[in-house]
Amino acid sequence: MTPSLAPLGLAGRDILSVRQFDRANLEPIFALTEQMREIVRRDGGSDLLARRVLAALFFEPSTRTSASFIAAMERLGGSVIPITQGVQFSSVSKGESLPDTIVTLEQYADAIVLRHPVIGSAQEAAAAAAIPIINAGDGAGEHPTQALLDLFTIRDELGRLDGLHVAMVGDLRFGRTVHSLTQLLAEYRVKLSFVSPEILRLPLDLMNDVRAKGLEVQETYSVADVIGDVDVLYVTRVQKERFTDLAQYEELKGYYVIDEAIMAAARRDMIVLHPLPRVGEIDPRVDKDPRAAYFRQVQNGMFLRMALLAGVMGKA
Ligand code: NCD
Repeated sequence: MTPSLAPLGLAGRDILSVRQFDRANLEPIFALTEQMREIVRRDGGSDLLARRVLAALFFEPSTRTSASFIAAMERLGGSVIPITQGVQFSSVSKGESLPDTIVTLEQYADAIVLRHPVIGSAQEAAAAAAIPIINAGDGAGEHPTQALLDLFTIRDELGRLDGLHVAMVGDLRFGRTVHSLTQLLAEYRVKLSFVSPEILRLPLDLMNDVRAKGLEVQETYSVADVIGDVDVLYVTRVQKERFTDLAQYEELKGYYVIDEAIMAAARRDMIVLHPLPRVGEIDPRVDKDPRAAYFRQVQNGMFLRMALLAGVMGKA
């Protein structure tokens, strides 16, 4: 990369939690992400990670996260061993332990990206592996690379992070993207509003962390309470797979629907984000609204993951 860029400090390191990041070390990641975007727009990619191999091990469904890691790797000239939806056809289904699967993949790859239903599984994998482990979601725990791309998108769309009012809407209890993004945003001087039904409120320990940082925080059940003031509306899906009582899921899933009427009450310069997939929380008629930034957010995920892969593989 160009010598003017500050080193990322990620070479050989795992990416397990957003707790690894702060304002100072996020800036060079965002700068490199912008540069990756330029490289893709200009040349389609580069050879930075030629002959490097990423293993992508997904124990939970994924479209964007797995595809964007694959696209990121391939646009940098590398390749991917995808063990994705077909995990049921792999040795995992024979009862192989996670550490054994990880140590095996380590023999082939330079880094492993892991999505797993159990909180803490990325840490468990990292303890077994000498190569970098990237957490692509550990149950209801964290999803650090999503939060990084969310934060990049906010900064890119609105030109700043300090001073913003961000509202998170939906399943704040089980939504790992919310858990990670909340902690990252707490690095900045933001106002946070948490909009959810009682049963899907943000976990108390996270709420306490945010309050301890001195941020202005508000909780409400109603989008109407915040819509006229927010810079960012971060909408999430109710996490069906975390419910033991599916009747309860059915009751909660349609709780919030962002539609044109709600958007009419929002500021002209705000944005709507969603980690996707959406299952009814945003009316597709909102898509043509220029404030709907969720598909731009998807593309930023690839640029951001290009930067992270270059970082952990020691090329940035
Ligand atoms: C999210 C996830 O898997 O946590 N999706 C994603 O990675 N973009 C959000 C979700 O599944 O609701």
